Amino acid sequence: MASIPSLPKPICQNLAVYVSKVNPKNLSLSGTGFRNFLQHGSVRNSTRNEALGDCSIQTSDVPLLTCAEAIASLKSHRAIENLKSHKGNQKFLAMYSSIFGGITTDPAAMVIPIDDHMVHRGHGVFDTAAIVDGYLYELDQHLDRILRSAAMAKINLPFGRESIRSILIQTVSASDCRNGSLRYWLSAGPGDFLLSPSAYLKPALYAVVYQDQSPLDSKGIKVVTSSIPIKPPQFATVKSVNYLPNVLSKVEAEEKGAFAAIWLDDDGFIAEGPNMNVAFVTKEKELLMPHFDKILSGCTAKRVLTLAQRLVEEGKLDGVRVGTVTVEEGKKASEMMLIGSGVLVRPVLYWDEQVIGDGKEGVVTQALLNLLLEDMKSGPPTVRVPIRYYV
Ligand SMILES: Cc1ncc(COP(=O)(O)O)c(C=O)c1O
Repeated sequence: MASIPSLPKPICQNLAVYVSKVNPKNLSLSGTGFRNFLQHGSVRNSTRNEALGDCSIQTSDVPLLTCAEAIASLKSHRAIENLKSHKGNQKFLAMYSSIFGGITTDPAAMVIPIDDHMVHRGHGVFDTAAIVDGYLYELDQHLDRILRSAAMAKINLPFGRESIRSILIQTVSASDCRNGSLRYWLSAGPGDFLLSPSAYLKPALYAVVYQDQSPLDSKGIKVVTSSIPIKPPQFATVKSVNYLPNVLSKVEAEEKGAFAAIWLDDDGFIAEGPNMNVAFVTKEKELLMPHFDKILSGCTAKRVLTLAQRLVEEGKLDGVRVGTVTVEEGKKASEMMLIGSGVLVRPVLYWDEQVIGDGKEGVVTQALLNLLLEDMKSGPPTVRVPIRYYV
């Protein structure tokens, strides 16, 4: 570290003090406590700083770190994040990066370069796959989608499909995670801060395995109509990292006491939620889902369409249809549900001020959730890729 006398100690050296003063239970979800700590350090006792006023506090409060100290601070940051008992309690178990050309299980090293075009221009695409009992669920379906997204975003592939697939499987294997999530990104890559992805950029692949310990919640929820504009079809059909409209739509829902906000398309038809698809059971016992030409082609929704055929065979449904859905049709449906890798199949009981059906979790929605859960645990090899773990 530079020998400027007034520089505060690196954050890592103050960790013990910080942790002893802060009850992790009181840390806010937003991590404000830690961010304040990062911004101001805990060395606020310099009488010299206080005498000199704000300007000098700002210039002298920022430590100049060596690489080793920066890494130690990253480790401290992760240690504090792990101490926080927040909703979801996500643990990062393994990360692959084509930048370091391998897998790490040290959460402190799970970072990406700041000059990556995905960071400063949003020029990246991503996808996920659930890890269920040591199998990757719908890996190939999600992989096909990220490759389609990459092509639409004009992102060159760092490796061929089979190599990417193998890297993803090996990352899960190294994580030793039996139940969790795999999330991966294809990026235009690091190289500069220009707008154009110049020939100097080397496309990158990142993948992370994490465990989310929040229990599955299948209680009925409320949705509202989103006032945040939907992405135009060219962008809504790509799973890119440009999720600002999605985030704002979710925030809007939460501000209104709802779980999600539903987008309508430019013609006023029902589109999708911010990270899920939507479906209905009509009064005629038909499963009805908006078609995918202007929205993200949901892997879970497509699987549910296939699984729903069983309910048709059992007489619980009279048919399955993908098409345009008006708001009126949606609001007067017997059942409404959200479908996606995150929510699985979640009943919707209220949309804006309208009660859906009889205001209770519907039997078809529940049956589809059960079929999906069963498929995740014991579906065919086309949807379940086994992981060979090291131990
Ligand atoms: C905008 C949007 N729609 C739908 C979905 C559902 O897709 P999947 O079932 O593949 O998770 C997602 C998932 O992230 C999404 O972001």
